[in-house]
Amino acid sequence: MKKTIKWGIIGTGAIAHTFAESLGTIKDAELVAVGASSKEKAEAFGKEFNIPSTYGNYSDLVNDVDVEIIYVATIHPLHKECVLLALKAGKAVICEKPLTVNAKETEEIIKCARDSKVFFMEAMWTRYLPAIVKVRQWLKAGLIGNVKMLKAEFGFCCDGNAEGRLFNANLGGGALLDAGIYPISFASMVFGSEPKTIRSMAHIGETKVDEYFSCILGYEEDKMAILSGAIQLYSQNDAWIIGTEGKIFIPNFLRAESATLFMKDEIEEKFEMKYSDIGYSYEAKEAMNCIRENKLESEIMPMDESLAIMKIMDELRKQWGLKYPFEV
Ligand SMILES: NC(=O)c1ccc[n+]([C@@H]2O[C@H](COP(=O)([O-])OP(=O)(O)OC[C@H]3O[C@@H](n4cnc5c(N)ncnc54)[C@H](OP(=O)(O)O)[C@@H]3O)[C@@H](O)[C@H]2O)c1
Repeated sequence: MKKTIKWGIIGTGAIAHTFAESLGTIKDAELVAVGASSKEKAEAFGKEFNIPSTYGNYSDLVNDVDVEIIYVATIHPLHKECVLLALKAGKAVICEKPLTVNAKETEEIIKCARDSKVFFMEAMWTRYLPAIVKVRQWLKAGLIGNVKMLKAEFGFCCDGNAEGRLFNANLGGGALLDAGIYPISFASMVFGSEPKTIRSMAHIGETKVDEYFSCILGYEEDKMAILSGAIQLYSQNDAWIIGTEGKIFIPNFLRAESATLFMKDEIEEKFEMKYSDIGYSYEAKEAMNCIRENKLESEIMPMDESLAIMKIMDELRKQWGLKYPFEV
């Protein structure tokens, strides 16, 4: 039987709820504590998920001796502070995407994780899904030949509330950091290297954040990724990976539950697997396995790759002249 791993959560917002629900489906995971910006919020969350320890601040949560690993689920600009707090308390950490608002902050986190010698991973949940694991196996086996092109888009249309975290520049709003990171991270996973060239275009809205964008990332050997992200468009969220011998189609790639392998234009194999939960248990299990094996990072989402992805996003924002008020 596997050793039970004890979790704490920082933040009690939308994704914290989803993650807590997923943790509840893992029999060797126990959610033992939650920390929120107020005692009321922590207690309400604790009551909902039957969590024994609830804290009205993040410091007490990271110092709870019962907690082994912390999931950081606050808004992007708070990630760095929360992660550093947890790492310095000697806790293993997984942090929501984007790891931070810019590469400089990610570098600080990675240095701290390495100095502290505790496990750290970006919670890029899509990467750990069974259908995406299958896609990596197809690619590794070279089934579609030499991969030359990738097309991926992720976006959604939301209400445009200027105060909400998606449109508010003070809260790190914009399509890139919230939605665009998924296709960018996907391209990084498929090509396994950093782009040599980056071309892009974005629409900056009234609240001074990018509401939608497209970019082309150019890799060695003229490989290219054509990517888009949006927070105010009814996007088409599929991905295609195109090689010299065939192609792979992943409908709704962010939440992939299937993938189709084509040899030339003919279907060779269709992989389908419904999640065992709402999809977030896979990243949690990866972190727990790494901890049991005394690993300090995940091979599926290494820290240096998270940093490379942040650097691409820094470059895109630079091309658009988009700086957050707290960066100036
Ligand atoms: N993996 C995924 O599928 C996925 C999906 C959605 C979001 N995310 C990521 O998860 C993170 C949180 O997103 P969310 O949608 O859950 O956000 P959210 O519900 O708006 O907020 C998350 C938490 O951040 C803190 N917070 C919110 N607004 C704040 C403010 N103005 N000032 C200070 N703290 C504030 C609160 O913590 P307290 O509870 O402690 O008050 C809140 O509960 C983001 O980085 C996002 O990119 C990931």
